[in-house]
Amino acid sequence: MNPTTLAAPAAAFLDRDLDVVDPDVAGWIRDEERRQNEGLELIASENFVSRAVREAQGSVLTNKYAEGYPGRRYYGGCEFIDRIEAVAIERVKKLFGAEHANVQPHSGSQANMAVYMTVLKPGNTILGMNLSHGGHLTHGHPLSYSGFEYRVVAYGVRPEDERIDYDQLAAVAREHRPGLIIAGASAYPREIDFRRFAEVAEEVGAVLMVDIAHIAGLVVAGIHPSPVPHAPFVTSTTHKTMRGPRGGFILCRADRAKDLDRKVFPGVQGGPLEHVIAAKAVAFAEAATPEFADYQRRTVENAKALAARLTGRGLRLVSGGTDNHLMLMDVGAAGLSGKEAEKMLEAAGLTVNKNTIPFDTRPPLVASGIRIGTPAVTTRGMGTAEMQTIGDSIARVLESRGDADVQREVRSTVAELCAAFPLPV
Ligand SMILES: Cc1ncc(COP(=O)(O)O)c(C=O)c1O
Repeated sequence: MNPTTLAAPAAAFLDRDLDVVDPDVAGWIRDEERRQNEGLELIASENFVSRAVREAQGSVLTNKYAEGYPGRRYYGGCEFIDRIEAVAIERVKKLFGAEHANVQPHSGSQANMAVYMTVLKPGNTILGMNLSHGGHLTHGHPLSYSGFEYRVVAYGVRPEDERIDYDQLAAVAREHRPGLIIAGASAYPREIDFRRFAEVAEEVGAVLMVDIAHIAGLVVAGIHPSPVPHAPFVTSTTHKTMRGPRGGFILCRADRAKDLDRKVFPGVQGGPLEHVIAAKAVAFAEAATPEFADYQRRTVENAKALAARLTGRGLRLVSGGTDNHLMLMDVGAAGLSGKEAEKMLEAAGLTVNKNTIPFDTRPPLVASGIRIGTPAVTTRGMGTAEMQTIGDSIARVLESRGDADVQREVRSTVAELCAAFPLPV
């Protein structure tokens, strides 16, 4: 028997290119690559990862089962997996100055779920930010697990300045005595006072969890104050300003570590995605560099420049501007719905998402706002000069109500910008 002939068919099967195995999927991936290259990505929660992150995520680690934690696995063959997960844990702990980290959550939503299960029993009360004021679905929306497992009360922003109403937060907390208070948001353009949240939590005997899914990169760079000194639990995604693979992580104090790890596995998840954890480790190494801090600084500088241009063109931004990487535009004030604005801008090559604004009267799928963020365009290398062009382009499309000629002109401006700032990978 010749072992090479026996091995040949299997090897050949594994060795075929995607183009050959599945030309449809291969083609759609290329289409998406072109779309990402040729359009301006202004969705605040998106970014472009490095080739190194993609290489790790696309590696053979996808083949491995590793239920458990480094040194305590339910599967053999975890020698190298353990090293990778352990280094990811050490790196993220160091980045944030945290006592303990769990890097296994498949997503931000699952990170939050694991904390809720660590702290609460079904039926307990949680206090989170109203979704239409900037909160996230998992902070207590009725259609999310957080809404059907727990009793939900909410805080929001003040009508006069559209900033978090800390007095209302305290009043609701005193009235309802929640087991968990959630700080953090998906669409809030201003700095969050974590110390204030911690004071309220302490006063009413609640546990504080801060979800930094959006601002994690800013926190690493010291541009947004860190919640770690104030909160026993901090959750995040890795794919927004952190510029890593799609996924989540949790930081907590040492005394909660054992409970939390048990809730992530086996409480919420099964086998960890070790290829994604490897990519997280790479992203955490990248995040420890001076280049990353500089990138975060430029992201915020760009957001402020874009906000100034948009308001200069007479467009209304919620709270009047931004302190971070995103802004919320009230397109209702310009006579449009968020849905219409999103569509008009997309036709001109500018990708944003419709978003409710505080006190919105439209439903979320229509909405009165759009959310605009600068993490992705900043990764491409664009700076404040380009923000003027982008701001003018957005204003022109919206002012013209999606006029086809204007859309065509803006599309060619977008094409020029994209050609001048090609994607790094
Ligand atoms: C504040 C916040 N938390 C959690 C999540 C959920 O993350 P994922 O989409 O990875 O589940 C998001 C995502 O948009 C978010 O903005």
